[in-house]
Amino acid sequence: MTTPTIELTRTQAPKPRPDDADLVFGKVMTDHMFLMDYEDGKGWHDPRIVPYGPLSMDPATSVLHYGQTVFDGLKAFRGPDGHIRLFRAQRHAERLNKSCAALCIPPMDTDLVRRSFEALVSVDNAWVPHRPGTSLYIRPTVVATEVQLGVHPAHRLTYFVICSPVGAYYKEGMKPVKILATDKYVRAVRGGLGEAKTAANYAASLAAAQDAEAQGYTQVLWLDGVERRYLDEVGTMNIMVKIGDEVITPPLAGTILDGVTRNSILTLLRDWGIKASERPITIDEVMQAGRDGTLAEMWGTGTAAVVSPVGLLGYKGEKLTINNGETGKLTQKLYDAIVAIQYGTAPDPHGWTSEV
Ligand code: COI
Repeated sequence: MTTPTIELTRTQAPKPRPDDADLVFGKVMTDHMFLMDYEDGKGWHDPRIVPYGPLSMDPATSVLHYGQTVFDGLKAFRGPDGHIRLFRAQRHAERLNKSCAALCIPPMDTDLVRRSFEALVSVDNAWVPHRPGTSLYIRPTVVATEVQLGVHPAHRLTYFVICSPVGAYYKEGMKPVKILATDKYVRAVRGGLGEAKTAANYAASLAAAQDAEAQGYTQVLWLDGVERRYLDEVGTMNIMVKIGDEVITPPLAGTILDGVTRNSILTLLRDWGIKASERPITIDEVMQAGRDGTLAEMWGTGTAAVVSPVGLLGYKGEKLTINNGETGKLTQKLYDAIVAIQYGTAPDPHGWTSEV
């Protein structure tokens, strides 16, 4: 297969870059973006990097109505050695393609997708922040750009990648969150879109999140959509619980995202000889473990935060405090281990990082 050339048009009007100390999540975008188009008959074509700017769309563009879109999210880190590394870029590219399949979006060449991340980060390398804990968040996205109001898979689509310098997720160190297990709302069911990274799943989470916040919680602990008993995800993250000496996380059975951080953490746990099980676990088992004192730690995993400790779990009016509401030892160890690999300050035995 020929390797397409990525054309580059540099901006003539570079923007001022924010101070690393002022960075928050996803508010500022870099100077360039990557674009590639799809049309039936031509396939994916015309990969290019151009100055960052608005996409112009006809109001009848199908993605605006029916949400035929997928995205992913990964990060580039500047290490103390000055080198810029992407974390698990190939796996993110492959996951984007899996999401595409679920939304009837024609597959892309995963090598080209990985190169789209590398090329854009390389052009905008000055935007990769220096301060410890900061990074460049990379957001690849596909949208259906066909102008039509009929409901069917689009024949025209656009792939774009944008980047945003982001601050340390935890400004004052890791802060345990309060989560509410809900059987009122569901995020996804088997046969639906739960394992795809697509807008619909995030839209479906908004009302439940708002409801949980109104009750003083930070996030929703999603239970399965059929029996409303089995843990699925937490907020926009995968969920893990440590009961006794075992770490348990729900299996990849069609309703949850195949998280890259989830996979990295399972790998580290197994490297360290800790029992890590991917198995269904009910909210009753977790609550019972909380009552009898065996629920040691609980955390969410995701690209944005790496790990997010759970300090309090609410369910049906009962509130469980976990590890005295503090970050658990294993949670902290996992966070430190992943971050050290990301910034190149620890060996990377699994080859997860790639230099740009
Ligand atoms: C993550 O990286 O944890 C996410 O999925 C968050 C993203 C939707 C902002």
